[in-house]
Amino acid sequence: MKKYLYRPGKIKSSEITPEEVFVKRREFLAAAGLAIGATGSVFPTIANAAVPDFGEIAKWPKSTVEKQTPWDQATSYNNFYELGTDKGDPKKNARRLITEPWSVEIDGECNKPGTYTLEDILKPHALEERVYRLRCVEAWSMVIPWVGFSLGDLLKRFEPTGNAKYVRFETLLDKTRLPGQQYPVLKWPYTEGLRMDEAMHPLSLIAVGLYGKALPNQNGAPLRLVVPWKYGFKSIKSIVKISFVESQPDTSWNLSAPREYGFYSNVNPTVSHPRWSQAKERRLDGDSKGLAALFSDKQETLMFNGYGAEVAALYTDMDLSKNF
Ligand code: MTE
Repeated sequence: MKKYLYRPGKIKSSEITPEEVFVKRREFLAAAGLAIGATGSVFPTIANAAVPDFGEIAKWPKSTVEKQTPWDQATSYNNFYELGTDKGDPKKNARRLITEPWSVEIDGECNKPGTYTLEDILKPHALEERVYRLRCVEAWSMVIPWVGFSLGDLLKRFEPTGNAKYVRFETLLDKTRLPGQQYPVLKWPYTEGLRMDEAMHPLSLIAVGLYGKALPNQNGAPLRLVVPWKYGFKSIKSIVKISFVESQPDTSWNLSAPREYGFYSNVNPTVSHPRWSQAKERRLDGDSKGLAALFSDKQETLMFNGYGAEVAALYTDMDLSKNF
């Protein structure tokens, strides 16, 4: 991926979220999750507003039991170009992204378009912990216990019409809260897309947390996608818009380098990136960090990131070396 020199300029004190507000917001979202997960009710009561995590939530039975990437590594080695292009930038600049209030616009080919608050979006969904592998196109991978719910269950609520063939997702566009958008590294806002059947697949997840806690900003608060059989860049962060569309939508990485990043971007060890092989990956599991991680042993990358039994049927009629 391209590099650019992103150095956040002087931040006005009015733009910085005071520690107290930041912590309160996190607690609020976390407590909301607890209320939804444990009792099926809506948002936190004052009594549980101080609970800093989701508490007891259902565990997805098909979770991978591989060694998990530790919290520290998963929340400090990130790709979120709107908060800077170095892996450590998103954490450093995370406070710029104020996520309260938050709403998601739903439009296009569906019967129930509209602007939904975060509460509206989360309310009916029981949260679940699913441990997924996430394979980055840069040939490293993580194993993360996400907290979330099925994307398909969310999409069904808006009653997509027969014309909805694809779903397009958009990240917040705001140069103050996402200062990396001051630089033309990608076409902003970051957009991604899935074919309707991919979006409705039970593995496609809307994540609101990881390791039992609300998503840190650098991981895409307050809600993001996780599509575990595709390269990590399909898992768009900090979503503000979901559109049901008839034709294949443009996506940021495909627009920026169409030869390197296709629309499908299924993890495929037999199709090399034009500049490097995709046959192997470095698993970030906390054993090696920083520079050491760059030189640690690599493991074989699996077709569809190891989720072939679940998703290969979606692509039986396609030549995946052309539709990469
Ligand atoms: N979403 C937005 N809006 N901006 C980004 O730069 N990077 C993607 C994806 N989602 C990105 C994004 C890439 S390349 C990867 S590998 C994953 O987020 C990384 O997710 P993580 O930082 O939570 O591990």
